[in-house]
Amino acid sequence: MNSSSGKTIIITGGAGFIGSHVVRLFVTKYPDYRIVNLDALTYAGNLENLLDIEKAPNYFFEKTDILDTQAIDEIFVKYQPHGIIHLAAESHVDRSILSPLDFVYTNVIGTVNLLQAARKHWTGQFDDKRFYHVSTDEVYGALGETGLFTEETRYDPHSPYSASKAASDHFVRAYHDTYGLPIVLSNCSNNYGPNHFPEKLIPLFINNIITKKPLPVYGDGLYTRDWLFVKDHALAIDKVFHHGRNGQTFNIGGFNEWRNIDLVKLLCKQMDEKLGNAPGTSEPLITYVKDRPGHDRRYAIDATKINQELGWAPSVTFEEGLSQTIDWYLQNTAWLENVTSGVYQQYYAEQYSKR
Ligand code: NAD
Ligand code: DAU
Repeated sequence: MNSSSGKTIIITGGAGFIGSHVVRLFVTKYPDYRIVNLDALTYAGNLENLLDIEKAPNYFFEKTDILDTQAIDEIFVKYQPHGIIHLAAESHVDRSILSPLDFVYTNVIGTVNLLQAARKHWTGQFDDKRFYHVSTDEVYGALGETGLFTEETRYDPHSPYSASKAASDHFVRAYHDTYGLPIVLSNCSNNYGPNHFPEKLIPLFINNIITKKPLPVYGDGLYTRDWLFVKDHALAIDKVFHHGRNGQTFNIGGFNEWRNIDLVKLLCKQMDEKLGNAPGTSEPLITYVKDRPGHDRRYAIDATKINQELGWAPSVTFEEGLSQTIDWYLQNTAWLENVTSGVYQQYYAEQYSKR
């Protein structure tokens, strides 16, 4: 889809972590587009993530659940969108282990609802349309010591979260093959950065270092993830949305593998420096706890295709991105306090008290 003016793009999940960075990028980079943020505002959705752009004339917000087929229908009629960038999802693996059905509803059925709406409203008018499904590298399962996930890697999901994302990917491709719906997909590695909800490793540990709570490392701590700064993911999504060939999938990653325990030690070191602590203050907070069931040993992305076809590459080094991320949390203590009050405490107790 080219970037000619006057397009209307619905971004689902735009009040969440990655979605808010995508919304900001599109609202500021494409003033001629109408950007509609469609989000149910679950525990993970937060309009405080978008305060700086909420008054932009090309920004619109619709508080809508993707499970509400009638509301989705009305939004298609109201905005007549040219494109959907679909990020809305239940996104946390540990929560999927506690409540798998929530993931089936939102990630699978919610995605099919959106596909149905696009099929119904775009019928026969596919030329300037695009349905972009944002997915995860977790659909590919776990790697051993070596190797990388490519776009051809066989799907092998292990958690209810990754199984639900895999199912949604299959439905998106099925709508392309069966109905000709114009689609693109991307499967990305672990993101980090500002606005990340403190249930995930990096923001949870930043919050626990600030509040001097234990840092619960699952299992032996030797699990490996490939970390990408969230703003680089947003730039990749921009490239894929505008220039990815119809029907194609792109893997997105940071070429940046870290074992959890090494990452946590780097985080402790950077936090101690920024908090003015004596070196070594935070590391003793590290506590090895019971492992996550079905824990995937290693993820690592081969991002050659998006690099060669679309000219995308990560632009922020991990040390620089982590430093920017910590600074953001230290400067946004009100944001952190708001999202860690109330129901967050219940989740935390359920997730960590028996480990
Ligand atoms: P997030 O949990 O921070 O945000 C999800 C957003 O979706 C929230 O704003 C929430 O309110 C909204 N949402 C949830 N259920 C909804 C529903 N039924 N209807 C409408 N809105 C709903 O998630 P994130 O980490 O920003 O991830 C966004 C997308 O990117 C997800 O699809 C996820 O699978 C994918 N992804 C995430 C990562 C990562 O590292 N975080 C990596 C690769 C892919
Ligand atoms: O790979 C992409 C995926 O990355 C996304 O699709 C998911 O939405 C996102 O949540 C993320 O999944 P992970 O499970 O890899 O992220 P998380 O931050 O939950 O965990 C990262 C690693 O840290 C993982 O090996 C589990 C471990 N961990 C996590 C938490 C929350 C701990 O050791 N302790 C913890 O308390």
